[in-house]
Amino acid sequence: MTSSSAHPDIYAGIHKALRRRLFSLCTQAGTTDGADAFAVEALAHAAEGVFASLRAHGEHEERFFHPLLARDGQVRASLDDAHVQHEAALSGLEQRLAQVSAESDAERRREWVQGFYLELCAFTGDFLLHLDEEERRAFPVLVAHCTADEVSEAHRALLAAMSPEERTRDLLSILEASSPDEAAFLLDVLARSGSA
Ligand SMILES: [Fe+2]
Repeated sequence: MTSSSAHPDIYAGIHKALRRRLFSLCTQAGTTDGADAFAVEALAHAAEGVFASLRAHGEHEERFFHPLLARDGQVRASLDDAHVQHEAALSGLEQRLAQVSAESDAERRREWVQGFYLELCAFTGDFLLHLDEEERRAFPVLVAHCTADEVSEAHRALLAAMSPEERTRDLLSILEASSPDEAAFLLDVLARSGSA
């Protein structure tokens, strides 16, 4: 979680983790047989976990980083809009999965799963652009308009607001998505802070 400036790169690790989980979910959706109730149940369970993480991540950003990003009103408005659109998209995806479970005809179930797969991939494409906007447009705003201490303090407050289970889940998913040097750095930070 370092950057070329003294500001902690609050987006890098968790965004890698979210990308990895979304790619994995897209693959699972694409390989699920809609007629297989157990496979659909597994897909729904996986989607529930990923969607919960996406929602929690967005809420954390809005609560702890968007107030700092308000120093550039255009960037903040753009990110706020994206979060609203993502929530609508996630609700739509959940409705599609519920339709699969409620359908008894095998071919119809396969059609619903294929529809879910296509919608999920489209959402993922849109979400990737959002992550890119945060990394390459919003982060420079934080660097330009906020001190490193302000950003660090907001990040500390975010971590303090998470439950131990949330922190553990995020840490594991960040480690899974990190390069070896990033993982070593993160583990070193945790060891020095007494958290690992
Ligand atoms: Fe975001």
